[in-house]
Amino acid sequence: MAKSAQPLVSDLKKFLASKVRDFEPEIRNAARDCISSRGKLIRPLLVFVSARGAKCDPSSLVRRAAIAELIHISSLVHDDIIDGADIRRNRETPNKKFGIKTAVLLGDAIFAHTMLLAFQECETVLSMKTVECVQKICEGEISQTLAKRGIPLTDSAYESAVRGKTAALFSLSCFLGASAKSGVDSPWAKAAEKIGDTLGIAYQIYDDACDWFMSEKDAGKTLGTDLAEGKQTFPLLALMKKLPSREAKRLAKSFDAIDQKSARELLEKNSILNDCEAAFMERMDRAEKILSKFPSEGEGLMEFCESMRDLFPIL
Ligand code: IPE
Ligand code: IPE
Ligand code: MG
Ligand code: MG
Ligand code: MG
Repeated sequence: MAKSAQPLVSDLKKFLASKVRDFEPEIRNAARDCISSRGKLIRPLLVFVSARGAKCDPSSLVRRAAIAELIHISSLVHDDIIDGADIRRNRETPNKKFGIKTAVLLGDAIFAHTMLLAFQECETVLSMKTVECVQKICEGEISQTLAKRGIPLTDSAYESAVRGKTAALFSLSCFLGASAKSGVDSPWAKAAEKIGDTLGIAYQIYDDACDWFMSEKDAGKTLGTDLAEGKQTFPLLALMKKLPSREAKRLAKSFDAIDQKSARELLEKNSILNDCEAAFMERMDRAEKILSKFPSEGEGLMEFCESMRDLFPIL
């Protein structure tokens, strides 16, 4: 973690814990369960590193970071319902613990709470971008869910779903930080949005690879749901490109029926983990190329990118 962000991270944790009291007593335990669970805090870190050196009130930065993390948490609550996942951050998911009906509304309540925080920033652009981001996440998740089974997914359809479900929030996080430093219309804020989008796509490629190649113990979450749901994520797209077209079409048709073990053997035989790493690094290069035009404002984010590269090789 960027050292300069450590005090802010500890303020953020206190701030998030205090937010639990804003929920009605009946759902406070469920809200606490989600909000106090420990993730990697990637999105808050993006806010902090993009704002490095900002002269603004630190409480505004903490609130912006909370917006990013709470949107993320609420999207995970809904994602775990959609993916039928039982474990997240080494704990039972809300759908497993409280049931799907409660989990749907809990995710909504956290989403709505995030909006209240965004309005407190008193900058219309920030509130609008926050609402837009939530819309994009939902649309990305929907398009992934609706993607036609049995037909190979195109690169652009994959990228468009991922741009919504994951990259929109990376992009917003970078914007929230960069705009605190340089203003909402600054070249740095605009560039940071683009960099966040690129990093978000890279991160989802990594996460898609984890679903196949990491252990549940290391990930702390239910894995293998992508294949179980017939979702064509990055490793499968890469595999289909390597197979002769007839075989790829046959595979696409049989995703629902194929078992995890044989699919994984196919991925390993075709060195798909290397393709995931190459695609991830290519995005990192792109992000750093934009960043190199902002040597002063982009210093914190550049350090972040350097450590993000260490996600590969997946252990
Ligand atoms: C998981 O995100 C969901 C994706 C967008 C891939 P993280 O890997 O950042 O999850 P936490 O916050 O650390 O639990
Ligand atoms: C990311 O996709 C979900 C969101 C952005 C909400 P995944 O479904 O791959 O995320 P994990 O693997 O469950 O964390
Ligand atoms: Mg999931
Ligand atoms: Mg999902
Ligand atoms: Mg995943």
